[in-house]
Amino acid sequence: MTKIALIIGSLSRASINRTVAQHLAAQAPEGVVVEEVQIGDLPLYTQDLDSESIPAYERVRAQLQAADAVLIVSPEHNRSMPAAVKNLLDIASRPAGKSLWGGKKTAVITASPGSYGGINSGLHIRQSLQAMSADVMIAPEVFLSRAHTALADGQVNDERTAAFLNKFAAAFYGWAKAE
Ligand code: FNR
Repeated sequence: MTKIALIIGSLSRASINRTVAQHLAAQAPEGVVVEEVQIGDLPLYTQDLDSESIPAYERVRAQLQAADAVLIVSPEHNRSMPAAVKNLLDIASRPAGKSLWGGKKTAVITASPGSYGGINSGLHIRQSLQAMSADVMIAPEVFLSRAHTALADGQVNDERTAAFLNKFAAAFYGWAKAE
């Protein structure tokens, strides 16, 4: 069984990224389980917390530890990644010497109603992951622009977009399953 930890970078109720993430999760082939890592309740990280037992930190660290691969689906906030995503990246990188990112297979996809598809967020997330020695999936790259036009009622209802996302999903799940 291949375990995927899914991180949805948006905390918003009607998130377009959540819709995209749910579409990708639904493409998981047999033998692959996708479990969301909740990031909305995580206290802001400071190294002072390294010596404390924080149940929400322990929960996400255990999920990431157990995952064969991580999929991050995120919006862009002010030309970078949302604070909640950065907080998770930091939490899982510490205490020093106990980072969970080293060698972790990780893929990133962004979606935005704007023309650039949240590319700055996607590249910043990749940059952080690479700095922490994660094994970041290079291609295919997906920065989904005008994403809202492809969605309705919590579904990806545009066929071309669905086919495009499905190609990404096939590549990601195949890579995640490989030894
Ligand atoms: C945004 N948005 C945005 N979009 C973008 O393409 N580039 C950006 O830099 C920003 N900046 C930004 C900052 C903040 C604080 C918010 C709340 C929003 C718009 C954003 O793409 C839009 O709200 C999406 O709907 C966010 O994705 P979710 O939350 O719907 O998944």
